[in-house]
Amino acid sequence: MAIEVVSVDITTLAVDAIVNAANDSLLGGGGVDGAIHRRAGPELLAACRRIGGCPTGEVRLTPGFNLPARFVIHAVGPIWQGGARGEDICLAQVYEQVMRTAVSQGFQTLAVPCISTGAYGFPKPLACELALRVMGDYEDRLSRILAVVFDRENEQLYRMRLSSRARGRSRQ
Ligand code: APR
Repeated sequence: MAIEVVSVDITTLAVDAIVNAANDSLLGGGGVDGAIHRRAGPELLAACRRIGGCPTGEVRLTPGFNLPARFVIHAVGPIWQGGARGEDICLAQVYEQVMRTAVSQGFQTLAVPCISTGAYGFPKPLACELALRVMGDYEDRLSRILAVVFDRENEQLYRMRLSSRARGRSRQ
């Protein structure tokens, strides 16, 4: 089981790549975005400026600079607008882009926060289901996928869903 749930500050993880829940300007913000930029240092912002933004649903790659992680995959998730605007499809797409980037870059260890479930207001149960479905499709292609949870609700959701998946597999 390559996917593990960890309740930790993602900026402390020494993995091939951590994922940032960014906005389309890529110029930083609050939440995990703010924490990553603070720890990575000003070179990260300069690198993001050179990229010049990222459309919602897509990702961009930068070095990790002062982070213990080698790289940062900046992922721009959807803002929840009630669920009738394809937000679920867009969030699944973001996770798909994250995983494809990790595989294409040959990353073996990856840490992913709960994209869009903070300031962007995406309902945590639905986001958890979408995230684990997509990451599960790639778990045999990386050695470790860390699902990073930073609040109680996400932690309970991820642990519950992963343990029910493990039970389902053991019955097969
Ligand atoms: N480590 C791991 N997870 C964290 C950390 C951290 N240091 N800080 C926050 N989180 C978690 C939050 O608890 C939430 O579960 O990251 C998840 C995503 O929340 P946000 O960071 O608010 O991101 P999001 O909801 O995708 O909104 C993105 O917020 O910070 C701005 O610039 C960002 O405009 C963008 C928007």
